[in-house]
Amino acid sequence: MKKITIAIDGHSSCGKSTMAKDLAREIGYIYIDSGAMYRCCTLFCLQQGLISPDGTIDTAEFERRMPEIHVSFRLNPETGRPDTYLNNVCVEREIRTMEVSSFVSPVAALPFVRAAMTAQQQEMGREGGIVMDGRDIGTAVFPNAEMKVFVTASDEIRAQRRYDELIAKGEQAVFQQVLENLRERDRIDSTRAVAPLRQADDALVLDNSHLTIPEQKQWLLDRFIERTHPQTP
Ligand code: CDP
Repeated sequence: MKKITIAIDGHSSCGKSTMAKDLAREIGYIYIDSGAMYRCCTLFCLQQGLISPDGTIDTAEFERRMPEIHVSFRLNPETGRPDTYLNNVCVEREIRTMEVSSFVSPVAALPFVRAAMTAQQQEMGREGGIVMDGRDIGTAVFPNAEMKVFVTASDEIRAQRRYDELIAKGEQAVFQQVLENLRERDRIDSTRAVAPLRQADDALVLDNSHLTIPEQKQWLLDRFIERTHPQTP
């Protein structure tokens, strides 16, 4: 059976990646976290001193050095999940910090960053058989994806989930800062000029504010089965 392309978009911290990873594992597809790619670009800027303390990005130098950024994903045999590598160094932990979160949306709004990442994402998904999550997957990266899902949840619930995740990883986190960061990222992501976050016209909408992880997993699997085994009338 032909493998399809599945695009999962939505707001910050709404559990898209958990859903997408679980689904990919269940159906034997490749999972790609497009947000991790923008986080790698941001980490690169921070490591190379391309973001000044007041948040100004040296865009001319960044654009010149963009070809130096290579993002890849490798399966971690211990967790059974893919880890993110920036230029062959595992940065799975470094890209999830609040520092990276606080600069990622301005970095991801830069047209040359989007062009480079979109081209890499399209190449990764050329053969189908992928689940990719992000902000613009169903609208800009794979507008012809056979299955598109737009996920959201209330901002307080999303902030609580992200806060719990950071604390569980031993990071320092303050709930109010996490909430403000995700509101600000949603604002920048939705209003940027290139490929803003928006629901594709043909996306299925899922508000998972009150769903458990097993419930959302089942919802997604049911939608996948409907798409790939349509009932004959
Ligand atoms: O984990 P969380 O949902 O908070 O964010 P993420 O998926 O890791 O994405 C981090 C940031 O990357 C987003 O806030 C966007 O600014 C940007 N992004 C994007 O612009 N386009 C995508 N396809 C994915 C992420």
